[in-house]
Amino acid sequence: MTFSQNADANVFFSCWKSPSNIALIKYWGKSGNQIPANASMSITLKEAYTLTRIKAGLIRNGGGPEVEFRFEGEINEAFGGRIESFLKSVVSYLPFLKEARLEIESGNNFPHSAGIASSASAMSALALCLCSLEKEITGLETGMEAFLRKASFIARIGSGSACRSVYGGIPVWGSHKAVEGSDNEYAVPLSFDLHPVFSEIRDTILIVDPGQKKVSSSVGHNLMKGHAYADARYKQAESNLTAMLVALKQGDWDTFSLITENEALSLHAMMMTSRPGYLLMHPNSLIIIEKVIEFRKQSGSAICFTLDAGPNVHLLYPTGETEKVRPLIDELKVFCHKGTAIDDTMGSGPEKLNCR
Ligand code: PMV
Repeated sequence: MTFSQNADANVFFSCWKSPSNIALIKYWGKSGNQIPANASMSITLKEAYTLTRIKAGLIRNGGGPEVEFRFEGEINEAFGGRIESFLKSVVSYLPFLKEARLEIESGNNFPHSAGIASSASAMSALALCLCSLEKEITGLETGMEAFLRKASFIARIGSGSACRSVYGGIPVWGSHKAVEGSDNEYAVPLSFDLHPVFSEIRDTILIVDPGQKKVSSSVGHNLMKGHAYADARYKQAESNLTAMLVALKQGDWDTFSLITENEALSLHAMMMTSRPGYLLMHPNSLIIIEKVIEFRKQSGSAICFTLDAGPNVHLLYPTGETEKVRPLIDELKVFCHKGTAIDDTMGSGPEKLNCR
């Protein structure tokens, strides 16, 4: 059955809830159509997600996709424009879009200013909705594995790191010799079970500054072109990923912390040493980092930190240590914007919802 033949029921719905993620091994530098310069790895979050619903109708002139986009209930032309050009860029992979009129509604359950990667949750939710629509409209049957792979591929075109949010746990995106089936065009889940010490990772996000990013990630990725340390950085990411896989298998939290922090600081080092250079941390980010390191020394806690391309600090620790680290987190809130800290945990990935 093709879209245009489905004359009696020309309206289709799709709805997905998809989470954000925080990278352990950072993706920073790309070429071509969102091809990463190195393989990356992230923790898929649970509580910070985007909910997207699409109502798709038929247009007969084949000039689609036509799009109406609402963000949190309001027509949003800025986001709508970005979504429209993304949809145009994926028509060759989702040909049904040529005959589609889409009413897209999307919303996050976290504030836009929370410093959480909303493009990862938004683009993965959108890609999953589009792949579900393709399946319903064209009758395409591929099985779950191929479905998720295609959703990850489509999400990547919207925002690189979004391709990892299609999977729960700790997925990898980018070709890497130690990860079976890994590919530059989509993410894959790990092929082994995490050691039980990593089964419940918590992420407390300390919101140091909720403002707009100083530099967009596409500008950041571009600054890696011709960067004096680019080759060394890509090699470092490759060996960090190899070592991280061993740590995750063996339950070695010390190595996990060492690599996670090394990656966070390396990402910021790349930004500081690019031309022009950017200081993305805030003085309070540094105070927090120093206090985390000191607390770990004093208490023997497993807590470690990571950073996205901004000033907010993610604290990662086993859920079993929640009570132990609470006094530290309470102390660190003083260095946060309006004392804001957001609690999240590793999650099991996106969910398809029935929301007609
Ligand atoms: O997916 P993008 O293009 O927004 O890039 C994300 C880059 C980092 O968040 C800094 C790192 C990562 O791997 O998520």
